[in-house]
Amino acid sequence: MNIAILPGDGIGPEIVAEAVRVLEVLDLPYDSESALVGGAAYAAHGHPLPEATLKLAQSADAVLFGAVGDWKYDTLERSLRPEQAILGLRRHLQLFANFRPAICHPQLTHASSLKPELVAGLDILIVRELTGDIYFGQPRGRRVSPDGAFAGQPEAFDTMRYSRPEIERIAHVAFQAARKRNKRVTSVDKANVLETFQFWRDVVTEVHAQYPDVALDHLYVDNAAMQLVKAPKAFDVIVTGNMFGDILSDEAAMLTGSIGMLPSASLNAENRGLYEPSHGSAPDIAGKNIANPLATILSLAMMLRFSLNQPEAALRIEAAVTKVLESGLRTADIWSEGTQRVGTREMGSAVVAAVEAA
Ligand code: IPM
Ligand code: MG
Repeated sequence: MNIAILPGDGIGPEIVAEAVRVLEVLDLPYDSESALVGGAAYAAHGHPLPEATLKLAQSADAVLFGAVGDWKYDTLERSLRPEQAILGLRRHLQLFANFRPAICHPQLTHASSLKPELVAGLDILIVRELTGDIYFGQPRGRRVSPDGAFAGQPEAFDTMRYSRPEIERIAHVAFQAARKRNKRVTSVDKANVLETFQFWRDVVTEVHAQYPDVALDHLYVDNAAMQLVKAPKAFDVIVTGNMFGDILSDEAAMLTGSIGMLPSASLNAENRGLYEPSHGSAPDIAGKNIANPLATILSLAMMLRFSLNQPEAALRIEAAVTKVLESGLRTADIWSEGTQRVGTREMGSAVVAAVEAA
C-alpha cells in the first residue's frame, strides 16, 4: 500500500498529522511519502501543484489530503491559486466520483443548528460529480491584478457542460451505492432552466432503467436545498453535478453538527482515490490546536475501505471515533454544555488510544 500524504495549508498539517498517527497504530504494511501542495507548494516552488507532487499522487494507491487555500494567495492569478492544486489532482487522476456522506452521530444531535428530531439518525450520501460541469468549462475573463481587477474587460463567463459518458458513469456510481443502502436516489438538477441539466435528467433516467430495484426521483436544486433543511431524513443518496454538489454538500454537512466531522472520498474508475475532509483549510484557526481532526481521521477510514481493501481497519477507526464521542470529548466546533473540550492533538490521541484498545 502506497499512500501519498499531502497536508496542504492552514489546519491541513495539524489534522493530517492526527490521521497519520491513527494509521501508524493500525499495524498495517504501508509506505508513505509526503509532499507540499497548495499555497505551501506555491511558496516553496512557485506552483500549487508541482510536478513532483502530482507524480507522487499519480503513483500512489491513495492520497491522504488535508486542505488548501489561504487569503494571502487570493490576489494571485487563478492558475497559481492554491485551489488549483485540488482541481488539478481531481482532473489528472480522473477522480470523477466524490462521496460525501452526511451522518449525524447520535452524540452530536444537539450540535446541529436544526431541531434534534430533524437530524437524529440522519444518514445521507451525496454523490457529487467532480471532474466536469462549469468547474472545468472554458473560463473567459481574467483579473489582471487586485487593483486593476478585470481592467478594461466588458464581461467574463464560464461554460457549463456535461458529456453523456460523464453523466452515465456518475449515475451508475450513485445507483450502485444506493443498492448497498436504502435503494433511493434523488438526482438534483436545474432542468427547468439549463440545457445541460435537462440532458443530465434524461441521461440519469436512461441509466435508471438498469436499476429497477432502486427508486429514482428528480429535484430542482433550489427545492433540494430547501428540502435538505426541511426534512433531511427523507433523502438516501443524492446525485448531482459538480457545482450543485459543492453547495449542497456544505449544507448537508451542517445538518450533522459540524463540517469538522465529515469525511470524503474522490474515486476514479479503478477505485484509486483521494481522501480529504469535506471542510477547508480554515487559516483563521491554523496552528492553534483547535481544529477538529475527526473528518480527516474518518477520511482515512474511507481510504482503507475503498482503495486499500482493509474494511476491518476502517471499522476499527470508525468504532474508535464513536467511542471517543461517547466518552464526551469534543473539539470546539462540536462542544456543547456538559461535554469536555479538547484540542486537535488530544482528540487525535484519544482516537489512537481507542484504536489501540480495540
Ligand atoms: C470542495 C471545495 C473545492 C471545490 C474548492 C477548494 C476548489 O470547496 O472540495 O468542496 O469547490 O470543489
Ligand atoms: Mg466546497
